[in-house]
Amino acid sequence: MRGGGWPRAVRVAGVVVLLCVAWLQLALPPLPHDPQSALGGAAREALEADPALGLRNPTAKFLHSRLDGVRLSSAPELSAEQIREIQEQIQRRSGNETVLNEELFGPVQADTIVHNRLEYLRHLIVSLAQARDIDAALLIFSHDYYDEDINQLITTIDFCKLITTNDFCKVMQIFYPHSLQTHPHSFPGESPGDCPRDTKPEEAARTKCVGTPDLYKHYREPRFTQTKHHWWWKANKIFDDVWVLKNHSGLVLFLEEDHFVAEDFLHMLRLLSVAVPRACAKCSLITLGNYLKTYNFHTDARKVEVTQWVSSKHNMGFAFNHTIWQQLKACHERFCNHDDYNWDWSLLHVSNTCLSQKLHTLVLRAPRVFHIGEW
Ligand SMILES: *[C@@H]1O[C@H](CO)[C@@H](O)[C@H](O)[C@H]1NC(C)=O
Ligand SMILES: *[C@@H]1O[C@H](CO)[C@@H](O)[C@H](O)[C@H]1NC(C)=O
Ligand SMILES: *[C@@H]1O[C@H](CO)[C@@H](O)[C@H](O)[C@H]1NC(C)=O
Repeated sequence: MRGGGWPRAVRVAGVVVLLCVAWLQLALPPLPHDPQSALGGAAREALEADPALGLRNPTAKFLHSRLDGVRLSSAPELSAEQIREIQEQIQRRSGNETVLNEELFGPVQADTIVHNRLEYLRHLIVSLAQARDIDAALLIFSHDYYDEDINQLITTIDFCKLITTNDFCKVMQIFYPHSLQTHPHSFPGESPGDCPRDTKPEEAARTKCVGTPDLYKHYREPRFTQTKHHWWWKANKIFDDVWVLKNHSGLVLFLEEDHFVAEDFLHMLRLLSVAVPRACAKCSLITLGNYLKTYNFHTDARKVEVTQWVSSKHNMGFAFNHTIWQQLKACHERFCNHDDYNWDWSLLHVSNTCLSQKLHTLVLRAPRVFHIGEW
């Protein structure tokens, strides 16, 4: 292990790499900002192996071998048999908390989560590989799409080797069991009798279709609601159900598969977590990313702001601990019943209507987590 000299207690860090949504979205009509439709055939070129991942690295090798095999444009309709197989796999894995590479390591320090857009994920992995102290983190990849190629990609992660010769990162995968992939024709997927999104009230009354329209008179769209369900599920899973994290009282950092991290993101997270009690006693979160169009690392690299947590500004690369999670979880009804399919807006609703004190956060002026996706 690299000698970083962090006292164990402050080895914070979690990475939530969400490996999933893309396959589904790509199979559906393109969203307004769908990069696949904008790029057309060019999207595949972006998948070329990154020189930063030496080809001798197993992750790079795997990606390379898969470049031709990855079909971004179609997600096949699965047969009932295939769905059953996937559910069995997920079921089998749900009781199996294998932490890859743990035998090379001590006990767990921290955590991370997963998604399924291979080309973004590759960039995230490259950036994680280059981050200092990544060997002290546990990466948990949370999938809402089961795919053997992606699972295999994750199992090849030993990118700490890129930095020194001895380090391995601890990696774990979890699988959302109520995904649209495994429930295409029943809740949370579209069930027979569900009202289509744009059903008019008279039509709904006439056809007796099932559903409750939202604020904008639209009926539920499973592919959007899945993201919120998955977020809530994985937070529950990680904070309360993953056995290896039972004794982890430190931070869990949520990342998504189209994020990119700076080399010092863990270092900054640690500095901020140490600073919180002194700098901002009411801050329950730390946010490493922001959506500002311009930032000046020269002047702002060391600057931090204290502000109320706002979903649209502070939903990227944010971290909190189990104490805060318990407060959020106690407001589960507010979160789940809030009429909005965005998990971050639902969290804001919890903050505004349920917590004894609204969520406040420390935010870096010069971000250490960046969004590289197109939407
Ligand atoms: C748990 O998963 C690992 C990796 O997928 C596998 O090698 C191992 O056999 C599994 N253990 C059980 C008990 O299923
Ligand atoms: C948690 O801590 C207790 C007491 O120190 C220890 O016995 C237990 O094995 C730990 N659990 C894990 C999952 O590390
Ligand atoms: C969790 O975070 C809150 C807010 O930063 C802090 O007050 C609390 O002491 C932390 N809990 C633990 C167990 O570190």
